[in-house]
Amino acid sequence: MRVLGIETTCDETAASVVERLPDGSGRILSNTVLSQARRHAAYGGVVPEIASRAHVDALDTIVAQALRDAGVSIGQLDGIAAAAGPGLIGGVIVGLTTAKALAFASSRPFIAVNHLEAHALTARLTDNIRFPYLLLLVSGGHTQLLAVEGVGRYVRLGTTIDDAIGEAFDKVAKLFGLGYPGGPAVERAALNGDPTRFQLPRPMIGRIEPNFSLAGLKTAVRIEAERIAPLRDRDVFDLCAGFQAAVVDMVIDRVRVALSIFEEKWGDPTAFVVAGGVAANSALREGVRRVTDGRVDLVAPPLELCGDNGAMIAWAGCERLTLGMRDPLSFAPRARWPL
Ligand code: KG4
Ligand code: ZN
Repeated sequence: MRVLGIETTCDETAASVVERLPDGSGRILSNTVLSQARRHAAYGGVVPEIASRAHVDALDTIVAQALRDAGVSIGQLDGIAAAAGPGLIGGVIVGLTTAKALAFASSRPFIAVNHLEAHALTARLTDNIRFPYLLLLVSGGHTQLLAVEGVGRYVRLGTTIDDAIGEAFDKVAKLFGLGYPGGPAVERAALNGDPTRFQLPRPMIGRIEPNFSLAGLKTAVRIEAERIAPLRDRDVFDLCAGFQAAVVDMVIDRVRVALSIFEEKWGDPTAFVVAGGVAANSALREGVRRVTDGRVDLVAPPLELCGDNGAMIAWAGCERLTLGMRDPLSFAPRARWPL
């Protein structure tokens, strides 16, 4: 089975062809990603109108390239999938409409994919893991701990009560003028910093429900920065390191709680999976490795599959199509679409 996947929910214009083999494993035949980050950098965040126009400009070329790289024509595909949300609605419309048009013109099945589900299932593409597994989904818009029971079957164990972790990284980066996207910039700055210099809070630690909170920590960083202003490079490095260490401490504690809840309800998970853009953060990967060591296998997708990409959409399309799921061309785009 071969499926084309299209991703346009944020600031990546992406398309990919993925093949699902009879044993349930997956193979990426092509994976084309065009990041718009440079266009948004001056604004310190994604500007929705700029994003949707850039998707319109680029998508045809990106899809053609993905098909060419994979060496398949539209007629050889078994399905065409697009992320139908959640995300910036203008961009979602561009990808969804394109996928529908291709599906209609070629009489192929159309699959509307939830972007979060695609992040959640990526570990089955890369590592062919079985259900049920525990998932930490950390992106610019979402921070969730989920029990993944099957395709379309997700039980939320915990979530953020305010900002997403990626969003907090982006805001800290903006505070220090480190550019967009903020996560990688804060991580780079933190490499040179002393995480112990500032006493920053560890929100939520010890709570019995594995929820997250970032707003207080972000404010604490801002207050410290204002207190010692004007900032030298060293101050910025130390504040970034302190912020990142506080986030990792919170994540470690929340994952420990979620693992216990999971084991009680579902038994041993087949794996602990980290997914989403923030899963690219080395300190976070290292932190969760410490909690899971000896307890459960840690699966973290390769860096290029952590951020938004078409392969995860194509793979989610394969998973759904295998179960006989397909969607009508009337499927409406969704700005909000909880798992
Ligand atoms: O999953 P993703 O590519 O897009 C969304 O669906 O949101 O995640 C993007 C988020 C951004 O907030 C970005 O700053 C964050 O992931 N991110 C990171 C790192 N790389 C990307 N955060 C921390 N450390 C990183 N290395
Ligand atoms: Zn994402």
